Amino acid sequence: MNQNHEIVVTAIGRTAFDRFGGITKNVPSVQLASCTIAELVNRAGLCPEDVDEVNLGQCILGEAWTQTDVISRQALIRAGLREATISCNIDRACCSSTTALQLSWKNLMMGESQVSIALGVDNMSRTPYYLPPEYRWEGKRLGDMKLVDKLLNLGYEGFGVLAVDAGEVALEYGISREMQDEWAVRSHKLYGEAEAKGYFAEEIFPLQIPQGKNKPPVILDRDQQPRPDTSLESLAKLPTVYGSPTVTAGNAPGINTGAAGLMITTREKAEALGMKPLATIIRVVSTAGQARGIAVAPAVAIKRGLEVTGLTLKDIKLIEINEAFAAMPLVSTKILGENDETKIKQLRDITNVNGGAVAIGHPVGASGLRITMTLINELRRRGGGYGIAAICGGLAQGDAVILKVE
Ligand SMILES: CC(C)(COP(=O)(O)OP(=O)(O)OC[C@H]1O[C@@H](n2cnc3c(N)ncnc32)[C@H](O)[C@@H]1OP(=O)(O)O)[C@@H](O)C(=O)NCCC(=O)NCCS
Repeated sequence: MNQNHEIVVTAIGRTAFDRFGGITKNVPSVQLASCTIAELVNRAGLCPEDVDEVNLGQCILGEAWTQTDVISRQALIRAGLREATISCNIDRACCSSTTALQLSWKNLMMGESQVSIALGVDNMSRTPYYLPPEYRWEGKRLGDMKLVDKLLNLGYEGFGVLAVDAGEVALEYGISREMQDEWAVRSHKLYGEAEAKGYFAEEIFPLQIPQGKNKPPVILDRDQQPRPDTSLESLAKLPTVYGSPTVTAGNAPGINTGAAGLMITTREKAEALGMKPLATIIRVVSTAGQARGIAVAPAVAIKRGLEVTGLTLKDIKLIEINEAFAAMPLVSTKILGENDETKIKQLRDITNVNGGAVAIGHPVGASGLRITMTLINELRRRGGGYGIAAICGGLAQGDAVILKVE
């Protein structure tokens, strides 16, 4: 491994995140991915031939399957990259896009590639209904065949429902429904303030959605889910969902659509190709824990990230913890703060300072790199420093991206 190579980010970009059944409901994930790849090449000022590989994280594999899978390969060809460009599709649930970044980082460190694109994508609105596989062989002698909707009760066969696990574990850590609602209000408020300052416009590229013959395309250029009018009173009235003791439609993210990507390369190659480094990726670590502990997973990943880089929480200027539910940043900061109320408050003050997925939305395969680019941009506004972006994924997997902005 070439330890002398620093791995730097030279372009970031994402689509705006859409609502469930919104204007992107018929846009396949491969199209979202190919637009993101083309935009990153454009933003970096490169020629398509300069890119060596594309690693793509995706969570809703049923949607990918409607396009016969291997989305990364199809998307890079559609984006105009060389057909000899290497690609890989990755499924590590909501950690998929950060794990794609990890693969890109490792390949650059090993000298296997020199310019790499990592991205994540999901169009949850296009998740297909399906007939269980038994029907292929057993069929039905008489009677209806029942379609299954895997989007309902998001969970894992034989394990718990995510919202139930998150809510129960939150209560075990003393994080009440009211605290989760308060965090949700904070998320919408901070998002609104950041959006008004144009912060998210720096991440988002406009996506054209064709409307058919003789009709102008619709442009998606703003996140569709945020509700700046969110109040504690309105959230308190919402019923809990999926049998969770605390999770409601108000303190959960929605069911969303979007793509997010980063271009990374070695510092030498960035200089050679005239690209300006935006941040240095120091490490991307992956962890896994007790399957129902999904709310704990970001804390575990952050601890591991600090351990392998030799950093401490005192070195970290900003943290992003994906709001898979409002419970995640609350539980994880409580663990990191070791039950010291002052420390926990300090950590929460530097976490998700521009809001999070409860406001922005959580297109599951894309959120890991969304929080990574939000972190990079905010560190740049604040004059640089170290930051950590952490995300949990199904059955208590966790990823953390440790980065530095000069
Ligand atoms: C929770 C969930 C089922 C809600 O889906 P939905 O019913 O389509 O969501 P809606 O946006 O229609 O919201 C439901 C209700 O809550 C209300 N609501 C949602 N957010 C609100 C807010 N911030 N303030 C006030 N009311 C709000 C809506 O107005 C709506 O009210 P209505 O029924 O009176 O119209 C869905 O978003 C979900 O499954 N989220 C979790 C996704 C997930 O698990 N991701 C993986 C995490 S690891």
